[in-house]
Amino acid sequence: MKPSFNKLSDKQRLRIQTRHRVSVERYGYQPQALYWSNREIQEIRFQKLIEILPPANQINHQAWSLLDVGCGFADLLDYLKTNHYQPDYTGIDISPEMVLGAKSMHPDLVIKEGELSDFDFNCSQFDYVMLSGALNEVVETEVEGTHEQQGEYAKSVIKTMYSISRKGVAFNLLDARHEWVNSRYDLQSFLPNQIVSFCQGFANRVELVEGYLENDFTIYLRK
Ligand SMILES: C[S@@+](CC[C@H](N)C(=O)[O-])C[C@H]1O[C@@H](n2cnc3c(N)ncnc32)[C@H](O)[C@@H]1O
Repeated sequence: MKPSFNKLSDKQRLRIQTRHRVSVERYGYQPQALYWSNREIQEIRFQKLIEILPPANQINHQAWSLLDVGCGFADLLDYLKTNHYQPDYTGIDISPEMVLGAKSMHPDLVIKEGELSDFDFNCSQFDYVMLSGALNEVVETEVEGTHEQQGEYAKSVIKTMYSISRKGVAFNLLDARHEWVNSRYDLQSFLPNQIVSFCQGFANRVELVEGYLENDFTIYLRK
């Protein structure tokens, strides 16, 4: 039987949740609790994600929806609003502490706890699907007793994001060509060209965006 890569094991889930519980206890509701070094670094990534969108005055003419995968405190929504975007926003995050933080700062929002495969989202359910930083941790996949296929979980999340989007997907990943990133055994990184090729296997319009931070790249999948 073909192994499934789209679900975290209980152990992996617990590890990610514990890391984030500890960081929230340490830093409170700040970017550092999300493992960003500061607000500026977080927002540089957001800026690249939102550049997939049409101008705010065009897109806001009609209701439009956005799913934020690994939403943390839903800071992306605040950034969108500062830039005059008004999406019908849904956030999901695997960490109960993040969901609690996001809800306490945005009591009116729909924020759900879990990973993408925990939800039965429909094909094309959201106009846009975005993800920032939620695929930066190594998730090893066990294949016939050996730990290998690193990165397969991230790829399965990317494919699912594409299938549930109507207009496009924007996500970022760590760049494996960066020395410090590559030296960290716990960080999942990728070669941009390999991710582009992977995405071209199911998406027609794949765009690579780089050069905004030395250790990160962004991909747009437009429909
Ligand atoms: C680096 S933080 C970024 C948070 C937010 N996107 C931002 O930029 O402010 C990564 C977030 O993804 C969540 N996360 C990690 N792995 C996840 C997964 N497999 N599914 C859903 N959320 C995940 C973490 O709990 C954390 O809140």
